[in-house]
Amino acid sequence: MSIHAIILAAGQGTRMRSSLPKVLHRLAGRPMLQHVLDAAAAVPVKMQHVVIGHAGDAVRGAIPDAGIRWVEQQQQLGTGHAVMRALPSIPDDEQVLVLYGDVPLVQPETLRLLLAAAADAPALLSVNLPDPTGYGRILRSADGEVEGIVEHKDATAEQRRISEVNSGLMAAPAGVLRRCLARCGNDNAQGEYYLTDIVALAVREGLPVQAVVSANADEVAGVNDRRQLAHLERVFQRTEADRLMAAGVTLADPARIDIRGALDCGQDVLIDINCVFEGSVSLAPGVQIGPNCVLRDTRVGAGSVIEANSLLDGTTVGEAVQVGPFARLRPGTVLADASKVGNFVEIKQASLGKGSKANHLSYIGDATIGNGVNIGAGTITCNYDGKHKHSTVIEDRVFIGSDTQLVAPVTVGAGAVVGAGTTVTRDVAADSLVTSRVDQAEVPGWAKRRRG
Ligand code: UD1
Ligand code: CA
Repeated sequence: MSIHAIILAAGQGTRMRSSLPKVLHRLAGRPMLQHVLDAAAAVPVKMQHVVIGHAGDAVRGAIPDAGIRWVEQQQQLGTGHAVMRALPSIPDDEQVLVLYGDVPLVQPETLRLLLAAAADAPALLSVNLPDPTGYGRILRSADGEVEGIVEHKDATAEQRRISEVNSGLMAAPAGVLRRCLARCGNDNAQGEYYLTDIVALAVREGLPVQAVVSANADEVAGVNDRRQLAHLERVFQRTEADRLMAAGVTLADPARIDIRGALDCGQDVLIDINCVFEGSVSLAPGVQIGPNCVLRDTRVGAGSVIEANSLLDGTTVGEAVQVGPFARLRPGTVLADASKVGNFVEIKQASLGKGSKANHLSYIGDATIGNGVNIGAGTITCNYDGKHKHSTVIEDRVFIGSDTQLVAPVTVGAGAVVGAGTTVTRDVAADSLVTSRVDQAEVPGWAKRRRG
């Protein structure tokens, strides 16, 4: 039997106070809706139907459309109405999973349990909350059977004391869902078509409605405002931190790490506080990351050390490399084994060979640098002439003195020495010395005479 996910994402999310649709607000760097789509995909489901309304075009535009069926709900007449909009294309004998675009942490395993409970009748996912205010309450008979759901606004004072609430997530055979929804009205406190009404209707038909009770309130928590989003962000990050520690990573503080993508770590990696990992990052065994580093789409080889306040983006770092503090490595940077990049060095689209060093205050862009090269402090590759970018080639064992400009396109041959303060405008032959300094002039006693 095929499974269809209907994901409700038409609401406005007023309490976010945002021009961005609620389901596009990011958790761990991805829109909340993307988390839900990923969880559904992992179940797996045959088809994802996303119900959009408020700012629907923005939602659709922000999500990579891998076979999603977008369903328009022009007016938000209730959760039942939203599901009804998606149902016509789903055959009676297939299973439906109803998810919310603003319940981002739900796990595929929980969804599988919910589906298993919904073979012949609707099943709902509930949770016990110390403060159930605002939620739909689960009504049970004296012997504990689920009888229905009453919304907070429609509940009596006695019903409001029930702590078991409806998460909103449900599963049901499409045929049962269609039949029950057709009989739902909107005669209630909110004048809405409630999806929750199908529970009592199914029970009245004699169907055995089950509740899967979640033990984890955060997993089924919805986001209505930014405070709740921030809470779930920390819950998510703590789970990631625990996963890393279980795999042999030392975190200086598991509450101060942010993973916005996939971080893969070998054993004995050490990550200091306040680091952010974006996109796909891998750290080989023994890598050390200092405090306040940002790594995006970057690979770091075994034993390398990234010192504090460094930013690495689209960078490949070899083994036993030292980077930072305060290094900025932009896309296309490749650092070979045992190389060294020091403070206030910016590198872009350039490779640094084995054992080569750029220790202080340099800009290296569009360059190929060989092995055993020393780049002195303040060296600049002048790669841009105002119109085009040009390349610099520095061959093996070259020594570049401090405060050198290399006006690209230019090549410095192997073993050459460039004197400090040189502006290199023409290719330099291997093993040459090149300087372009004005001769030093000296007037003996001049300073003393001036002082008088
Ligand atoms: C709903 C449940 C309630 C449950 C709570 C959990 C109903 C009637 N009530 O209440 O039992 O405790 O969720 O958070 O289902 N949406 C649409 N179209 C609509 C209406 C809603 O797409 O016409 C979407 C919203 O964008 C949101 C989700 O459905 O993602 C839930 O809607 P919301 O209005 O927040 O439902 P609650 O009143 O919180
Ligand atoms: Ca809600």
